[in-house]
Amino acid sequence: MASRLHRIAPSEITPPEVFFNRRRFLAGALVAGTGAALGRAGAAVVPAAAGAPLAYSLDSADSVGALVHAPGQDETPNSWEQITHYNNYYEFGTGKSDPAEYAAALQTRPWSLTVSGEAEVTGQFPLEKFLSPYALEERIYRFRCVEAWSMVIPWVGFPLARLLKQFKPTSRAKYVAFETLYRPSQMPGQRVPILQWPYREGLRIDEAMNRLAFMVVGLYGRVLPNQSGAPLRLIVPWKYGFKSIKSIVRIVFTERQPQTTWSLAAPNEYGFYANVNPNVPHPRWSQATERRIGAPLFHERQATLMFNGYADEVAYLYNGMNLHEYF
Ligand code: MTE
Repeated sequence: MASRLHRIAPSEITPPEVFFNRRRFLAGALVAGTGAALGRAGAAVVPAAAGAPLAYSLDSADSVGALVHAPGQDETPNSWEQITHYNNYYEFGTGKSDPAEYAAALQTRPWSLTVSGEAEVTGQFPLEKFLSPYALEERIYRFRCVEAWSMVIPWVGFPLARLLKQFKPTSRAKYVAFETLYRPSQMPGQRVPILQWPYREGLRIDEAMNRLAFMVVGLYGRVLPNQSGAPLRLIVPWKYGFKSIKSIVRIVFTERQPQTTWSLAAPNEYGFYANVNPNVPHPRWSQATERRIGAPLFHERQATLMFNGYADEVAYLYNGMNLHEYF
């Protein structure tokens, strides 16, 4: 991945008071149960329009908020503008501003998801039905790209573990694989063989069951814009950002480790695990530090934390594994 530098004015950063007031307002809307638009509590209703308000809960978010705090780290969320205008989404081009420029043409309704493989429940489901079992909650996570930049992002979604409980992978399932939509007519990057399309990612089942692994439909309490991976994407906050696959249409439970896009493209640079690890440099650059998008001083860098600061939650998954070998 080529890293391009991009200057963001401090004025683009949403003041935290504005953000947190809005969160309280939206949470209030959910509690008040203001009618059909928000749906019944406990069922995800995701409007088709990017940026439309979402109904979600802050209760579980507050407890998770406490567990994700890393001492000494700036946890101020990046602004909507930063999060939605500095993206990697190669289906729309390789430049950081290409997704914001070209992704609006993608039609995210109707949308369906296919679940197959080693699971008790399989089939093809319209998005609305697929999402209906899950209550939405907010998670503010650090996000660390393998290119050594980072952000703090308030996502809205539901734990991947709940999805697994719904589809009931069998004892043969050791991995879960994800695929992005393949639609070159609306995704101009797919007309060029820069990657093997469709984009693919995967996790071990125990990683997918970890409570931090999150399926995302929103951002800042609003429907995810296309450049951020609408209508449904994965977020795995202890791994490099490329594991967090966007615009998912297929989920497959497998016995064998699935192939993944970036390890197919450059196996010596991007492994299957891709855990954030300051001690294992990328062959072409160090991973010891990162540049927080929007940091007041452009060249200021901060230390990268093991598992992106989530070691207490996830280190057990890799007991006994040599993380230099399984990078
Ligand atoms: N998913 C798809 N389908 N295509 C992509 O190019 N890029 C990945 C990941 N998911 C990518 C993708 C990479 S490299 C990163 S860093 C994150 O998305 C970026 O997510 P963001 O644009 O929301 O910050």
